[in-house]
Amino acid sequence: MTPQEASLKCAEVCALAPVVPVLVVKEVAHAAPLAQALVAGGLPALEVTLRTPVALDVIREMAQIEGGVVGAGTLLTSEDVEAAKAAGAKFGVSPGATDRLLDACEANDLPLLAGTCTASDVMKLLERGYTVAKFFPAEANGGAPALKAIGAPLPQMKFCPTGGISLKNANDYLSLSNTMCVGGSWVAPSGLVESGDWAGIETLAREAAVLPR
Ligand code: 3PG
Repeated sequence: MTPQEASLKCAEVCALAPVVPVLVVKEVAHAAPLAQALVAGGLPALEVTLRTPVALDVIREMAQIEGGVVGAGTLLTSEDVEAAKAAGAKFGVSPGATDRLLDACEANDLPLLAGTCTASDVMKLLERGYTVAKFFPAEANGGAPALKAIGAPLPQMKFCPTGGISLKNANDYLSLSNTMCVGGSWVAPSGLVESGDWAGIETLAREAAVLPR
């Protein structure tokens, strides 16, 4: 998959809803009801971070949920990319971008939302042919004003900012011309996941799904 093809696929994923839930799932049994609640609430694109021992099994389970588009987050190595692809991930997300990681995603046909936080990061991805990226960690890097400022000289890159975003500040990003959607864990807080409050998560998803952009 070329960087151009990967960017088109990432743009399709980002167009599905204003928010991509960032999920840290500790129990495989939570996978199906969690994905069903988020999809029912209007958030079909789901990022399952590879930060728990069961993350790949969670991706396998969520990949079966009708209407969901499941991706793997926290991709760091080519082994992560291969394992995520084999588990059924439709896209990948990484906190940063290395040549090895980009090579692996292109070789395995896994569209990657690579992490950027500086103009140089963005320029490196643009040089390689990417036009969609993650901005991470968004709030710690200056938030929406910083992302807006990056967009002045580099308007051809579109972003999914992630990190420190919630219902309170999501609009600051979603109103920018270079923001396609935002990522965030606030729609699936660990307290609700661990207590199995799927109705509560669906309510949070519904609020997020109607954010204007
Ligand atoms: C992460 O990597 O955990 C994501 O950026 C989510 O960040 P958040 O918990 O601040 O939404």
